[in-house]
Order: sequence, then C-alpha cells, then structure tokens
Amino acid sequence: MRHRFHSICPYFAMFPEQFAKKWIERCTRPGDTVMDPFSGRGTAPFQAILMDRNGLGNDVNPVAYVLTGAKVGSPTRSSAERRLWRLEQGYNPEDFTSESATLPPFFGRAFHHTTLKQILYLRSVLSWSTSRVDRFITALALGSLHGEMTSAASYFSNQMPRTISTKPAYSLRFWQTKNLWPRQRNVFEVLRRKLAFRYESPRPSTQGKAYLSDVRALPRVAAAVKSSVDCIITSPPYLNVTNFEEDQWLRLWFLGGATEPTSSHYSKDNRHTRASDYWSFLHESWRALRPLLQRRSHFVCRISAINVAPDAIKDTLSDSMRFLADRWVLQEYTVSDLVRRQTGAFRPGSVGCRFELDFCFDLYQ
Ligand SMILES: C[S@@+](CC[C@H](N)C(=O)[O-])C[C@H]1O[C@@H](n2cnc3c(N)ncnc32)[C@H](O)[C@@H]1O
Repeated sequence: MRHRFHSICPYFAMFPEQFAKKWIERCTRPGDTVMDPFSGRGTAPFQAILMDRNGLGNDVNPVAYVLTGAKVGSPTRSSAERRLWRLEQGYNPEDFTSESATLPPFFGRAFHHTTLKQILYLRSVLSWSTSRVDRFITALALGSLHGEMTSAASYFSNQMPRTISTKPAYSLRFWQTKNLWPRQRNVFEVLRRKLAFRYESPRPSTQGKAYLSDVRALPRVAAAVKSSVDCIITSPPYLNVTNFEEDQWLRLWFLGGATEPTSSHYSKDNRHTRASDYWSFLHESWRALRPLLQRRSHFVCRISAINVAPDAIKDTLSDSMRFLADRWVLQEYTVSDLVRRQTGAFRPGSVGCRFELDFCFDLYQ
C-alpha cells in the first residue's frame, strides 16, 4: 500500500514518490543521507526514511516546511489524537466572533461562518514551528483547507482547487457566477477522520529533519550536515512557472500570514521569471549546497521551463554543475512530455510546461 503520509497535502509542481524511490534505489544504500533542498511537500526525504536512509528536507516556504517536517518527524498516533481532543475541548466559538467579522469578504464566502471560527481558533493555537504534534495536525489542516466540495466533506472550503489557492477576486466572481455557498464543516471531525486514515500506514521508525531556510543560507542553518550528503534529489522552482507565495496564499494565511496574496515576503529574491536571473539563482544555490556534499555524491534533478528547448536546458544545467563539484558526469538525461499540464489545470489563464527533464549527475569534489 502507498504510504498514507505521502498525500497529506498536494503541492504545486510536486514529483511523485516513484521518482524519488527510483533514484534512492539507484544512487544510495541504507544509512546514506538524501537531501532535497527545495523539498516542497517533502516526498524525497520522506521516501528516503521509508527506505532506511537519512532524509533531510529544506524549503523557504513555511507550507513546505510544515509538510516536510510532519512527514519526516511524525508524532505517535496517540499523542496526535490526544492533542486534537484537547484542542476541541479548549474551543470557544465566541472568542472568534469579532475576528471573523473583520476579515475580507473572501473569507465569508470561502468558509461557512461556524467553520471559519474553528479555523481561526486552530490558526491561533497550533505551534507548528516548535511542536511536532502540532506540526502534524497543521499539515492535516493545510491539506483540508481548500478543495472540491464533495459529499465526502474532505475540505473546509467552498469549491476551490486543491493544489493552489485561487485569488480572492477570482474566487468571489466564480462563486457568485455559479451561486456556490460553503457548507458547514466540523473541522475537528474532519481532522480526526484524516488522522485515522493517515495512520493506517505505520509511522516510520526512522525520523529525518526539515529546515525552513533560503537554500543559500543552508550551510549556516544546517551546519551539522556539512560533508555528509550522499545524494541530492530535487526539483528547483521551474523557470517562469509559478509564484509559490501567490499560489499558496490561503495556506500561508493559515500559518499566520497575510489575509491576501503576497509576493516576495517569504523569499526576497524571486528570480524565477527571467532566464539569466534564474540561472544565476541556481548557481548561487549550487554554490551554497556544495559544502554539504560528500566527496563522491549524486545530484538528481527534475526541471522544466516555459518556452525553452530541452537541449538548451540540458546544456545550461550541465554547465552549472561547476558550482557544485570539481568534476561531474551526466549519467542519465530523459525528457518526458507532460500529459496533464499542472499550471494550465490549476492556475486560470496560465500556460503550462510541455515537458519535464530528469537528470542524474555523478559529482566528485
Ligand atoms: C518545484 S517545487 C518543489 C516540489 C517538490 N519536489 C515536491 O515534490 O513537492 C520548488 C520549491 O522550491 C522552493 N523555493 C523557491 N525558492 C527557494 C529558495 N530560495 N530557497 C529554498 N527553497 C525555495 C519553493 O517554495 C518550492 O517549494
């Protein structure tokens, strides 16, 4: 059975666990260290600990940090159940009446008023940055915050996509045109059900580590990792494809962020839209990662871009390896057509990537 932690919450431009599994099998042995410095929902480090490797993840996005941390540092089922029960006992809807009334109109149409107060309560009490139990419950809440309004009552919101948070004005227009109203959800009940479902899979016996950092600050933040990484498995932001802050603004709000989409708040340096800026961002990232690598290591990367030919990406990425190692050999390079265009499907009006490129380099320091 697929481990049920994998799908706690969808994430934009995520790769499937089969991708991580294939490369962990090929490039590492039990006990080795696998790192994803742009970990997103944490698939690579989580798959690594499932395969008895040491799994490390990092991301600048707090949503990614919560998801990765929840998976590689999960609490026991009983401690999570106990915490959820205590949270429910401590809830008083009246405490959130005035806060819910002052939120922008989006929130009143996105959530039923009783659901919104429960969400506001959890938002105010969950200590996702310091407590592993709270981080796990927060991850479940992030995965439930918005999605389709099915009868299974899996999501708290009015009709929304699961992967990205649509912008307030677009969402309001959509709900008004379709005459859609949010249904009442008991947030505690949904979370209890999801907790039970996730723990149908055994909690991994090994635990990994998640960092919340700009990749270029990682050698400082993760000083203990120095010279220990055997394999990087990653997908950096795709060139000109998404702005994670805008596209995940509602989940970021749940983690304490602004009540509307922001850009350049979490990452001051969103240079993913112009090719030359993008490549210099990756050069800086590789330079920062280099001290973390073993003398012999592997670098596996899935990458894509809009309006750039695959061979041009291959040449530029291969050239960028000089920032990561003294010597490198390209072991494998594959191009796959994207059948389902994630960006086209989830971001109204956007143009999707047509292909994804997978690379595996052997690196020598
Ligand atoms: C393509 S996504 C990775 C998706 C991931 N492989 C998965 O399966 O979920 C790229 C990630 O890079 C992160 N990111 C962007 N700029 C960053 C930076 N400067 N430092 C660290 N992470 C960054 C984004 O937050 C995003 O999660």
